Order: sequence, then C-alpha cells, then structure tokens
Amino acid sequence: MAAKIISGRDVAKEIRAELKEKVAELKKKDIVPGLGVVLVGEDPASISYVTSKAKGCQEIGMYEETIRLPADAPEEEVLKIIDGMNNDPKFSGILVQLPLPDHISVDKIIGYISPEKDVDGFHPVNVGKLLRGEPCPLPCTPHGVQQLLSRSGNDPSGKHVVVCGRSNIVGKPLAAILMQKKEGANAVVTVVHTGAKDISYFTKQADILIAAMGRPQAITADMVKEGTVVIDVGVNRIPDESKKSGFRLAGDVDFEPVAEKASFITPVPGGVGPMTVTMLLYNTVEAAITLNQ
Ligand code: GUN
Repeated sequence: MAAKIISGRDVAKEIRAELKEKVAELKKKDIVPGLGVVLVGEDPASISYVTSKAKGCQEIGMYEETIRLPADAPEEEVLKIIDGMNNDPKFSGILVQLPLPDHISVDKIIGYISPEKDVDGFHPVNVGKLLRGEPCPLPCTPHGVQQLLSRSGNDPSGKHVVVCGRSNIVGKPLAAILMQKKEGANAVVTVVHTGAKDISYFTKQADILIAAMGRPQAITADMVKEGTVVIDVGVNRIPDESKKSGFRLAGDVDFEPVAEKASFITPVPGGVGPMTVTMLLYNTVEAAITLNQ
C-alpha cells in the first residue's frame, strides 16, 4: 500500500482562512486578537519559530508584538514583561518561547502567565482542565495532530492510538486530548516511552501511530502494521553539507519504507510543523473571544 500524504500545509491554509474570516468579524466589534511573544537568547530554531508566529499573525490580521531579550537577561525582567502583558488588553495571548536559558525557571515563567492568556496551554491550571475535560486552550502541537486526523477523514473514535513519547508539550497532552469522550477524540490511547522493553510490540497494534519521541527515523517499517495512519511529530536537524543551511530536517519516522505500509502519513517538513503555529493563532483568537465576553 502506498500511503496518502496528509499535507499539514494544506490543512493549515484551510484553518488560517477560517481564522482570517473570524478576525475580520471580531474587528467589526472592535475586538482585535493580539499575541505577545517573548524570546530570550538566540537559538536558531527558536528564532525561526518566533518569526513564523509573527508572520502568521500578520497573515490573518491579528496584532503581534515580539520582545527579544539577550540570553543573559535576568528572570525578573521576563516576569516583568509577562506582568505587563497580563495586564494589557492589547494581548489576548502570551507565549514565552522555549527552551529558556538555564538560569530562568520554566515552571515559574509558565505559572506567571495569566491562564486566560496562556495560548500554549502549558499553565498548570490549563493542564488540569485538559485532564478533567473542561474547556481550555489545547496545547498547539497536539491540537494540530487532532485537526490533521479529523480533517483527513481519520476520526480517532474507537481506534487504537499509540503515542510514542511522553513529553509535556506533545505526548502527555495528546493522550489527554484523544482519550476525551468528545468529537474528534474518543480513542483508546496507549502511551509508549523509553521504559518499554519492546516498543514495536505496541506500535504494531496501532490503528493510528503518533511518533513524538524526538529521535530521527526511529519508527521503521517493521514496527508498523499494514494500513496504519502515521503522524510524524519529529523535527530533527540532521547535519547535511549539501544544504546551504548545513542541515536537513528529518522526522521520527523512516518515511519511505513506512509509507509503503501505511494508509496515511504526514511528511517532514510540511506535516505537523505548519499546524503548530496555526493552532497558536486559533488559541489567540479564541482567547480574545473569551476575554471579551
Ligand atoms: N518550543 C518548542 N515548541 C514550543 C511550543 O509549542 N511553545 C513554546 N512556548 N515554546 C516551544
């Protein structure tokens, strides 16, 4: 079987068009969704993410402001900026780009963002709401995965979803989202991680396999069953002399051989990647609506 490609670029375009219309409607009521981004340091991947967030905001007509601080900026300064954004109605969403330098406590920073403006969905209050099935901003990458499944006709309801990876940003919230008794979810979820003696024992049972372990090409063809749906969350930078940038991107899935067995598969790049920023825009628009109710 040669898998159908699920294009994150196409799905992201579709959702951004919907958001652009929503923003235009909100502006008629004098509501302008706004995103405040804080970037500390000069990590190249973080700079690239922050740039695409700013572009995304402009594309759908939202307000956006990025504060860039040097890598040695004190924690106090970051907290002060967040405090300002928490109290400024221009911002319906606040995002502090991770990772942060070691001298800054990620937990302290995340906990300082007003939960109503936490468009990453990382604040403990929102993590708790997610687990309880209460309305809350869904973390962007897992929410993007859910949208890719639903919009490609792969409703996870009743399916066995195997999530490889247990990070706070992807694996854990994705499992929490897909196990909810809700539309676009209602799956039977297994979370596999490095503690498993034999990962392939689990991955072979997946109707839907999500690779989010951050290890390049770790999911090989012998680990998947015929006809499975494969979503690759991995974004690994592999040194490549032939590229101008000096690297190429590779997912967590050994794409070509796995695509021979799968029914659907996402590419890297162009799969989950474009969805993350799109769902951030979605959360910012939704936060603007909630804050203005
Ligand atoms: N760094 C990598 N992914 C993310 C994300 O989803 N949110 C934030 N704030 N930082 C990140």
